[in-house]
Amino acid sequence: MHYSDYLKLDTILTAQFPESDAQQLPAHDEMLFIVIHQAYELWFKQLLHEVGSVNEIMQKPALNDNSPELQTVVHRLSRCGTILKLLVHQIDIMETMTPMDFLDFRDMLRPASGFQSVQFKLLEAKLGLKYEQRYGQEYYISQLRTAEIDKVKEGERQISLLQLVNDWLERMPFFDARENWEGFIALRMEEGVPVYWTTYRDCYRKSLADVESAQAEAFDKVFFTDDASRQLSAKAARAALFIMLYRGYPILQLPFQLLNNLLEIDEQLSTWRYRHMNMVHRVIGARIGTGGSTGKDYLKSALDKHYIFKEIAQLTSFLIERRKLPELSGVMERKLGFHP
Ligand code: HEM
Repeated sequence: MHYSDYLKLDTILTAQFPESDAQQLPAHDEMLFIVIHQAYELWFKQLLHEVGSVNEIMQKPALNDNSPELQTVVHRLSRCGTILKLLVHQIDIMETMTPMDFLDFRDMLRPASGFQSVQFKLLEAKLGLKYEQRYGQEYYISQLRTAEIDKVKEGERQISLLQLVNDWLERMPFFDARENWEGFIALRMEEGVPVYWTTYRDCYRKSLADVESAQAEAFDKVFFTDDASRQLSAKAARAALFIMLYRGYPILQLPFQLLNNLLEIDEQLSTWRYRHMNMVHRVIGARIGTGGSTGKDYLKSALDKHYIFKEIAQLTSFLIERRKLPELSGVMERKLGFHP
């Protein structure tokens, strides 16, 4: 096997065709513009590969938390976070192109725009951005070809990582009455939830300052009420909070890393959106985008609205100090350790 055959370099390295060359109006920076976008698309492909494989593992009817599978999920999600950091940094290179350099060829590529990146929209969908939560629903696919729209719509129909995480959290065994964990506080029920949570709610309420009293109601909404407009069920939200509270116990370390990786992905994606938006402002000011959107205004709204794992991030509002946590029974402590 030869290096260039294996990597299909003949195909990749002969895929840069500056429009300015074709029109014989030389614009030096168009090559950079093309290479950067192609590099992004390659990394989007890798991200889809990673997230796709994670979703496949998480879809198994019984993902075994004690098997290497969960470790694989955590590892691949962590890789996604690292790739996204690189994608944020690539904006530095794009910003070496000045607004005047861009104007040399900008009109030649109209109406092409990153807005037409099918892989980007698929990535958002695979992670869990639902159509209902999208900003600009009326035109986010307006610039795509019919086959591309079908692809995006198919991606939106498939079960997303966020839904799979919700299902996995719901399966967390520690509060499952079917397990016969004698003496464990959670087995008694109160107000339809294990008594642990009514105890925790009391501790949480005591921790609130007067001006924060509305949080008590928010707590009940998130952890005691199922609401179709939310992405996490009350049961899943309780499990995620439990993982955050007791992440020091061996059994909860991987689950905690999984949740943390989701927050890292969201943070990096939004950092990318923010940097991209500022770069756009610097390069085109208040002009509309080549894709026909309002440009910076569209990007700002997408930035604000498109946090995918925000319901997980919001759970930190409901944490309390370690020393004030309800005491766990000995049985429970043993369950959370490595020894049975
Ligand atoms: C000079 C450089 C760039 C400019 C001026 C620019 C401009 C814009 C504008 C104005 C939009 C809004 C849609 C529209 O009306 O076109 C947009 C969207 C987008 N651009 Fe860029 N862009 C640049 C570089 C890049 C690069 C390097 C990428 C990497 C793939 C990229 C990916 C995207 C994506 C994915 C969207 C859709 C974002 C969303 O829907 O939230 N852009 N861009």
